[in-house]
Amino acid sequence: MLGEGRPDLDLASEITVTKQPNPSWSYGDGVKDYDASANTHREIDPYAADRPMVNNYRLLISGIAPRPIGFISTVSGDGKRKNLSPFSYFQVVDHDPPIFIVGFSSRPGQEKDTFRNLKESGECVINTVSENMIEAVNACSLDGPYGISGWDISGLHEAPSATVKPSRVEESVLSIEGKVVDIKEFQAHFEGLSVAGLVLIQATRFWARDGAVNEDASHIDLEKLRPVAQLGGMSYGRITSTFELPRSRWAVEQPSSGLLKSLQSLDPDSRK
Ligand SMILES: Cc1cc2nc3c(=O)[nH]c(=O)nc-3n(C[C@H](O)[C@H](O)[C@H](O)COP(=O)(O)O)c2cc1C
Repeated sequence: MLGEGRPDLDLASEITVTKQPNPSWSYGDGVKDYDASANTHREIDPYAADRPMVNNYRLLISGIAPRPIGFISTVSGDGKRKNLSPFSYFQVVDHDPPIFIVGFSSRPGQEKDTFRNLKESGECVINTVSENMIEAVNACSLDGPYGISGWDISGLHEAPSATVKPSRVEESVLSIEGKVVDIKEFQAHFEGLSVAGLVLIQATRFWARDGAVNEDASHIDLEKLRPVAQLGGMSYGRITSTFELPRSRWAVEQPSSGLLKSLQSLDPDSRK
């Protein structure tokens, strides 16, 4: 059995809050104990003739981590086929208007059903993934025949949406109904593969779980969200510890920093 010999995961353990990594950091300090001689880099050409494409996949999913998972519900253009699948080439890219991006990889033969449905119907619901959902979510990534959906095989529950046809996932802490605002297709690098695609989605409605969202619907409680992040290989990450680090302003910081004061007085044209 996978994971044999490893400790059980304790879903009930609380998230700890610690100090920041280096509380005494000041402007110009860079990274503590940095050793340039131990920090050399290797140049990699993603398109080198002898480089298998899967190496780019493995490098990028392990190096661009953690990635949030967008769990996307769609229906086909004729409204007959439902789909529910996870995607971690996913991010919120702005809040005004609320915009999200999802990337669909190419694969042998047909493009991903979710991508096809988004192109046909222009609608979806993006649902968050909490720790207690991950096995059900992973099951939804099975490459079943078109028309057999994650809803059929995961045991997750459908809840009605307000502004789009696809259902939202009742188990999710936050669901975002949205409409497609743009689609970009990329020709596959290798023959026989479907196009890859990028879809921009604008939110039309939010649904936040009672008890996980505050009074004015401006904050989701991390203890309730318990997000799962996708890492490299078949690894996932949890958030078990956080720290706070406020973002400051030049006008606040400059008067008390020798470095920022000296930069302010420099003529921009004299800088390298
Ligand atoms: C956690 C997770 C994240 C995934 N992220 C992506 C992704 O970002 N892009 C992608 O094309 N496939 C991704 N997949 C694979 C798809 O979920 C899988 O191909 C699925 O069968 C697509 O479903 P569909 O063809 O019904 O749309 C991911 C799978 C898992 C388990």
